[in-house]
Amino acid sequence: MPEGQPAPRDSSLPEQARSELPQRPLGIYIHVPFCTTRCGYCDFNTYTAAELGSEPGASRTGYIDAAIQELGIAARVLGPDPPPVSTIFVGGGTPTVLPPDDLGRLVAAVRSHFGLAPDAEVTTESNPESIDFAGLQRLRELGFNRISFGMQSAVPQVLATLDRTHTPGRPIQAVTDAKAAGFANISLDLIYGTPGESASDWLESLEAALSAAPQHISAYALIVEDGTRLAARIRRGELPPTDEDDLADKYLIADDRFTAAGYRAYEVSNWSRSAATRCRHNLGYWRSHHWWGVGPGAHSHVGGVRWWNLKHPQAYASRLASGLSPAQARELLSAEQRRTERILLELRLADGLSTSLLTTTEKGRLVHLVAQRLAVVEDGMLILTRNGRLLADGVIRDLLD
Ligand SMILES: C[S@@+](CC[C@H](N)C(=O)[O-])C[C@H]1O[C@@H](n2cnc3c(N)ncnc32)[C@H](O)[C@@H]1O
Ligand code: SF4
Repeated sequence: MPEGQPAPRDSSLPEQARSELPQRPLGIYIHVPFCTTRCGYCDFNTYTAAELGSEPGASRTGYIDAAIQELGIAARVLGPDPPPVSTIFVGGGTPTVLPPDDLGRLVAAVRSHFGLAPDAEVTTESNPESIDFAGLQRLRELGFNRISFGMQSAVPQVLATLDRTHTPGRPIQAVTDAKAAGFANISLDLIYGTPGESASDWLESLEAALSAAPQHISAYALIVEDGTRLAARIRRGELPPTDEDDLADKYLIADDRFTAAGYRAYEVSNWSRSAATRCRHNLGYWRSHHWWGVGPGAHSHVGGVRWWNLKHPQAYASRLASGLSPAQARELLSAEQRRTERILLELRLADGLSTSLLTTTEKGRLVHLVAQRLAVVEDGMLILTRNGRLLADGVIRDLLD
């Protein structure tokens, strides 16, 4: 993350950025920075109760009040008539360590400050062991209509290496319960390439996920993040490092199985059973729409202005308690930065990238990519092939270099 420039203490935005609001949908991301335990591979901005202790302002209930305060600031800054919100995504951390009614207070605050579009997508992330049937029913009553469970794997020793605490069957039961509670839009997250995971382990996880018939599946290559327990174990030689060829093989295995089961990749790591069950909130990130990220460490983007909040829950809450913006810093993107960003993000989508965004030099490089069967051009859209998706980061680098 760049250092950025100081963010205004009153959260104000340049008029130019605000004037772009009516042009594209507005999403609200709400970051819940709490987990019961810390998984050894994860470097997300999240804290266990023991890590937070009894620091003032960092309690779980105090957090909801602080987040609602930030929503009030957002409505004022994007007002006087802020646009209705198209998508809400409550992510983490583990949002469902909080009682459903607390999460409902967040949705109610968005509704009262902004109004929700009639077809708004309202998602929460959840760990399968952190919610039961009654909790899922309550989330539906409170306005959530999409839920994303972190399944990761169905193989006991892979879950153990990842420090996941749920039993292999729990995510499948959670999907069944969510369906019975009235969720018609359910997603499962999987991770492939965990040290010690064989190809047949991965197939077993894929089959288990498909047996639950969710509407949407995300499959991520394991990233070994510096500073995590997993990285230390690999460095000490206790676990083998991840292997690029293994990751590529597993990506193709996943894409084959998902495609055979009727899912289509609409983004490099995301598959959906139909266009209607693509994650609209995440599409907003990939299409450079506007979103306000509420909560510690959350990132926002409105009309070419990007900012990010203080990371620690206590620092975040104490800024808000003083009536000040919780933003740590911001960046005003130039037209060229915005164009490059669109290329980076839109090329990851199955709908592709309009070639009209490319310079003459970049268009010249397309011939090479097409000849290597990494991309095709159809009706003015540049679309990655399956091999192109596999090498997406490299392809994008080659195009922009
Ligand atoms: C930040 S988590 C939040 C949801 C929930 N706490 C969970 O873990 O299931 C969202 C997803 O990010 C993915 N993820 C987290 N750390 C990752 C890593 N180091 N490499 C790949 N995927 C990761 C996992 O699939 C996870 O489900
Ligand atoms: S439960 Fe999710 S957010 Fe929490 S530590 Fe594990 S991977 Fe990270």
